[in-house]
This record gives sequence, structure tokens and C-alpha cells, in this order.
Amino acid sequence: MDFRFKALTVEKDHVAIVFCDSKNKLIGFAKKLDQISKKDLSRIIKGDLSFQKRKSKHFDYAIIHTPQNLKLSKIYVFKLKEFARFSVRDFQVLGGHLQSLISFYQEEKVGIYPDGIVSKNLSFLSGVSEMLLGFLLASYNFDKYKTMNKKDGKTNKIKIYSSSYSRLEKNFINVSAITEGVTMTRNLVTEPPNVMTPPEIAKNATTLEKLGVEVKILGEKEMAKLGMGSLLGVGQGSIHESKLVVMKWLGNRNKRKKPIAFVGKGVSFDTGGVSLKPGNGMEEMKYDMGGSGVVIGLMKVLALRKAKVNAIGVVGLVENHIGSKAQRPSDVVKSYSGQTIEVLNTDAEGRLVLADALWYTQEQYKPELMIDLATLTGAVIVALGDEYAGLFSNNDKLSKQLEVSGKIEGEKLWRLPLNDKYDKMLNSPIADVQNISNGKGPGSITAAQFLQRFVNKVPWAHLDIAGTTWTKTALPTSPKGATAYGVKLLNRFINKYYEGK
Ligand code: BES
Ligand code: MN
Ligand code: ZN
Repeated sequence: MDFRFKALTVEKDHVAIVFCDSKNKLIGFAKKLDQISKKDLSRIIKGDLSFQKRKSKHFDYAIIHTPQNLKLSKIYVFKLKEFARFSVRDFQVLGGHLQSLISFYQEEKVGIYPDGIVSKNLSFLSGVSEMLLGFLLASYNFDKYKTMNKKDGKTNKIKIYSSSYSRLEKNFINVSAITEGVTMTRNLVTEPPNVMTPPEIAKNATTLEKLGVEVKILGEKEMAKLGMGSLLGVGQGSIHESKLVVMKWLGNRNKRKKPIAFVGKGVSFDTGGVSLKPGNGMEEMKYDMGGSGVVIGLMKVLALRKAKVNAIGVVGLVENHIGSKAQRPSDVVKSYSGQTIEVLNTDAEGRLVLADALWYTQEQYKPELMIDLATLTGAVIVALGDEYAGLFSNNDKLSKQLEVSGKIEGEKLWRLPLNDKYDKMLNSPIADVQNISNGKGPGSITAAQFLQRFVNKVPWAHLDIAGTTWTKTALPTSPKGATAYGVKLLNRFINKYYEGK
């Protein structure tokens, strides 16, 4: 995929995408094309019948073949319903629909004329940029392991014609930064678990060094020295070495300003361990490193767009496997915080990884706030499905900021409670804490309560992304598979509330 930005001209030999409003009135340069083609456009779109109805409530489109006087093979007229009220997400979705249309009709040379699509809610520049972002995110495709029936690699050449083309081009750096971060996250999550092992994820993180991110990797020896028995216990059944990766991006003018920290669960594959998962659906557990994928992709976005923020990304990377060295249900391990943990279920491993990663982050980096992301519980899918991720926090302001950011980006969050009574459910008879509560209960909440035992007074939020990391059906800006849910949300959160401050 390749975008070029051009001043307004009437091109030849390509397909044009133009827009009209809900009353079929042509917008922007479409009016000019209409004049040149002796009103071919307005004649055809006058009858509503020429519009293909889309599932979307926002737009329909009509196709005009070989309009008079213009050397264009086709014009697609997109009818936007109420674009004056479009939100950021509406623009992204529009871009996603344009992409799916173009790929459905296998168009190669395409020109888009966005002038005149302005919403009261955001600037022309932002609106078009969000549309382009949606377009790029929808075009994601992962076929590196196919040796046959590959989608042919023709990259579409898309030109954006606008009187503001140079401003659009300048702002495109932000769009492509987000696209590249999301793509990296999706690639990491989609790669099979025999390839994307903990050391391999760590190696991928080091590719951010050339963008100015400082990357530090701790192996099992170093972690053992620090006393990270909780994280190490999870990885001890695997032949792949566990890793803890720290990525540091110092973009604030004041390099010594306290950073904000992001912590990701990176279980490269979750068999459940000795508390083995049933075979049916176990293959999904390759995406159990989704939280770490988001943190790495987010750090890439920040570095690529040179975000004016100090941010730390920490990912705990392990494989939760069976084997003669694997930990047993009822083992007691000692965490980096000093607290001992009775491991009653080896399948509740994500929290064991995060316990040490969270404590390490706040000990070593004294962050201003800390946000973790984890495909932590099946229970959050029971509660919220794939529409919302679960949000848990010890801080109302942070929660609000995250909720607002998620709403803007179409990566929604729903806050669930934390409470002392839930916390008590984790008291162990022989250790400080046990990793699951006894009996059936509010599984996502007790998981979050467990994490909170490893968080001191720092403002902290936990996002349970088990239901949103992978999609079984294509979404407007995400094909089937890894969504990278969280990258856009957190990038927005940083940009809106913490950048340059
Ligand atoms: N990785 C799973 C949670 C999960 C389930 C993620 C489905 C994505 C889709 C996690 O490690 C796990 O196994 N959780 C257990 C906890 C239980 C043993 C208390 C669960 O949710 O069943
Ligand atoms: Mn598990
Ligand atoms: Zn897991």
C-alpha cells in the first residue's frame, strides 16, 4: 500500500473516489468533475436507485463507468450520511470501507478526492488522516507462510488529491507511525508459537533500538538473581528461556521526568501447564502474548512519531508448558516483591508473570502511572464478549482518561470493580496469597485483585484484553485475526493527556 499526496488535478487512467452528501449533492472536487463530464455524475446519482446499499448506516456508493470527457475508467461516488457529525472512529470506519471496496473490485490505480468532507467534531486534516489510517489498518494481510494461493503482491497506488495536500502529507507521519505499530503487534500475535517464542519476541523488541528506543533484556539468570520466582515458575516447564524486556523511550524535553509505564503479559503459548487446558480451542492460546505485542507495538508508534513523552514498556515473556520440570498445582513460589504465592492452578499463569513484571516496573522506574495489558481471563469474555475490554483501576481519573481514549478510537473499555472483600478471597492458608480463589466466583475481578497485591500506591490500571485481542470475523479496520486492540487506545491516551506536559 502506497499513498501519494497531490494538488487537485484531473488525472487519467485511474479510478476516482469522490463524495456526495445525504441529499446527493456532490462535494468538493466532484463538482468540477461533474462539470467536465457534462453532468454525467449528477445525472446518475440523482436517482437513489444507482446506489448500492451497504450494511453501514453511514454510507452507500454508486459506480459511474467511463464518464464523458474524463479519461477515468470509473468513478465511485460515496454517499456520506451526516458526515458533519462524523467522529474520529467514523472516519476510520469510512477508510476501512473504502479499502474493502477497492480490494473487492481489485482496483489498482486509485485517486481519492476528500476536499469538503469536514465534520464539526474535528479538523479537515484530522478527519482525512483518520480515514487514511482506517484504510491502511483494514488492508493488513499476513501470508508469509503461504507458498501457494498468495494474494498477489500488487501494491495499490493510491493518490490523495487535495488543495491541502502538503499539510496532509506532513501529518501522514503520524498515520504511518500508528499503522506500523499496529502491524508489528498483529505480526507478533499472528506468528505461530513455535516461531514466536519468548527469546524471539525479545529479539523483535530489539529492532526498536534503531528508532531510538533503549532496550534491555533480562534472561533467567538475571531474573533468578533478582528473585523473580513467580515469573520464572511459569516458564520452568518450557524449553524456551523466559525473558523480561524493558523498552525505554525518552521523548519529553525533560529526560528525567517520571515516565508512564506499560506492562504486557507475554505468554507465547498457554497450554495451561499441568492444570492442562482442554484440547478444543487450545490453538487460540498463541495469542496469549497479545498484551506484550501491544506494548511493543505502542513503543514503536511512540518512537516513529517522536512522541514528546517519557514512556517505559515492560513485557514478561514465558511459555506456559507441560513437562517434567513444570510447576505443580500447590507449589509455593516467592515473588520479586517478597510475597509468597501458592500456585493452586498453573493455568492462572498470566497474573504470576505480571506480579513480577509490575513490581519490577514500579521498583526500578518509579513511574507516574502504570497500565498493564493482558489476555488474562476467559471470564472477561463471559462478562463483556469482544465488544469491550475489562478495565480495573485504583484511580478514577486514570480510568476516565482511558475510557475516553478508548471511545474515541473504537477500542472500548468497561470498568469493573475492585474491593477488599474480593481481595480476601485470595488469602492462602500456607502462603501470603494464592493465585486463584476457591470455588466459582468473579474470575476477572479476582485476577485483577491478585495483580493489585503487586502494585503499591502508584496510579494503576489493568486492561483484560482476552476478548478483544483476536477477532473471528472481519471488523471495519481489522481483518480476521489479531486486532492489536490497545495500540490506538494507548497512543490516543498518551497524545491527549500526557504529551509535552
Ligand atoms: N490465557 C488465559 C485466559 C484466556 C482465555 C485468554 C481465553 C484468551 C481467551 C489465562 O491464562 C487462563 O487460562 N485463565 C484461566 C484462569 C482460571 C484458571 C482461574 C481462565 O480464564 O480459565
Ligand atoms: Mn492460562
Ligand atoms: Zn494465559
